[in-house]
Amino acid sequence: MLIIWAIVIALILFFGFTVLFGAPFLPTLQNRTNDALDMLDLKPGELLLELGSGDGRLLAEAAKRGIKSIGYELNPLLVWYSRLRLWRYRKLAKVKLSNYWYVDLPKAQGIYVFLLQPYMQKLDKKITHSKMTPVKLVSFAFVIPNKKPAKENNGMRLYLYK
Ligand SMILES: C[S@@+](CC[C@H](N)C(=O)[O-])C[C@H]1O[C@@H](n2cnc3c(N)ncnc32)[C@H](O)[C@@H]1O
Repeated sequence: MLIIWAIVIALILFFGFTVLFGAPFLPTLQNRTNDALDMLDLKPGELLLELGSGDGRLLAEAAKRGIKSIGYELNPLLVWYSRLRLWRYRKLAKVKLSNYWYVDLPKAQGIYVFLLQPYMQKLDKKITHSKMTPVKLVSFAFVIPNKKPAKENNGMRLYLYK
């Protein structure tokens, strides 16, 4: 019984503490991951960053297209789960246990996010003040304030940073 309580408390802690830094774990529906990748339109060998990479499902789809990727994820359970899931694509897809707000993001051609509205302005600032531009960003569900998307598809928006 003690073990079960310990597991429950550990799960609550791992999945709960991320809300202090960003969105809680809620995965993009599997059939929408390809919509996001279609919008980003990256070529094989180009680099995609996923901020809050969850269970790694988008990174797996990206790897099937030959796209390189780095996922940043705060929840250690999701990091290990997605590393296992991505094992066969390990030359293309990496997952880092880190808080994306405190990471110097490398130069990449695409970014995918599924955050929460209150974080979108902070994200916009982070990208604008980084050396990442030009870069394409797809956001699921939430908008970058005062920035016009280049494309929209059923809740996904493509933003171009020049
Ligand atoms: C809404 S989920 C989206 C997961 C994945 N991007 C997807 O679309 O399936 C947000 C993810 O971001 C992670 N997260 C939240 N804040 C974070 C932060 N500051 N740094 C890294 N990961 C974070 C959460 O643990 C969660 O897995």
